[in-house]
Amino acid sequence: MMTGSGSPAVAGGPARHIPVLAHRAMAWLVVHPGGLYVDATFGAGGYSRAILATAGTRVLAVDRDRSAIAQGAALAETARGSLALVEERFSHLESILQRHGILTVDGIVFDLGVSSMQLDEAARGFSFRLEGPLDMRMGGNGPSAADVVARASERDLAAILAVLGEDPKARGIARAIVTARDRRPIVTTRALADIVAQVVRMRPGAIHPATRTFQALRIFVNDELGELARGLLAAERVLKPAGRLVVVAFHSLEDRIVKNFLAERSRPQAPSRHRPQVAAAPATFRVLTRRPETADSAETGANPRARSARLRAAERTDAAPRSTIAAALLPALPALAEIMRKNA
Ligand SMILES: C[S@@+](CC[C@H](N)C(=O)[O-])C[C@H]1O[C@@H](n2cnc3c(N)ncnc32)[C@H](O)[C@@H]1O
Repeated sequence: MMTGSGSPAVAGGPARHIPVLAHRAMAWLVVHPGGLYVDATFGAGGYSRAILATAGTRVLAVDRDRSAIAQGAALAETARGSLALVEERFSHLESILQRHGILTVDGIVFDLGVSSMQLDEAARGFSFRLEGPLDMRMGGNGPSAADVVARASERDLAAILAVLGEDPKARGIARAIVTARDRRPIVTTRALADIVAQVVRMRPGAIHPATRTFQALRIFVNDELGELARGLLAAERVLKPAGRLVVVAFHSLEDRIVKNFLAERSRPQAPSRHRPQVAAAPATFRVLTRRPETADSAETGANPRARSARLRAAERTDAAPRSTIAAALLPALPALAEIMRKNA
């Protein structure tokens, strides 16, 4: 499937999602002919297209969203063997590559979060602006946002909204959800948005009151922070020496995980207290962006979604990968499986 034949010109083409910071991401990836790259978040394929625009490159693209992979079929056909599409979570990157007979790659790019297609499709339940089922799952399986809203305790709901939505009104919203669900199940986006709007007053010029609640539930339902932490670990294992890692994040918690991971991995690992005789492990990454790159005014003017984008890039060293990720990278949160089990 992934032959190295010269890539046809596949740049351009229709895509509803406007790729953010794509030029900067390509510059940091240092896309070169003959290189093999992972696009960990295929979406509408904007990044994959940009990589394939360099002749002789190959891309393995991953997305957990079945419809994103299905819509990429036309691009894969145009790319004539240079693009493999895989419906999977990027936390499984190592096993995905193994299944394709690939041990290492030249670069990996993550463009995190949701795509415009996901937000714009009412039936997916991501948007409080569109009436639809309260779903929010990027992949088709696992508990939905409605399940979490129905089953989580008031305390767990408040923790989810406070941590992942950074919402100062988290406790009041959690209380209102629990009161409302005792009257009738909350199964639609509008129903939830209306409950939040009763707690948080709409102020002119401010974001919609339900923005933070929807963002928190989406991140929780899809375990986006856990996925990111495991995805970074996988990237460390499969990047070649001098291979490039590029991450575009849209949420401060995601960006903090990337920043802290790279800070930790770019320092030698101190010997453990229990085995002081073992030499310090060398750094596995060299950070290339001292500060995160952001979109310029031309890009944010054309695409408001670019405003919150933060790009970080790093280069893999030749040191052996470390096996663990500091638990402190992830915020303390209730476990989704536990919520489903406890209140089943
Ligand atoms: C912001 S969009 C990517 C847009 C893409 N770069 C483009 O130019 O069209 C993010 C995509 O990543 C996917 N995604 C998010 N988390 C994922 C994960 N853990 N594993 C695989 N795909 C994921 C989403 O389904 C979505 O399609």
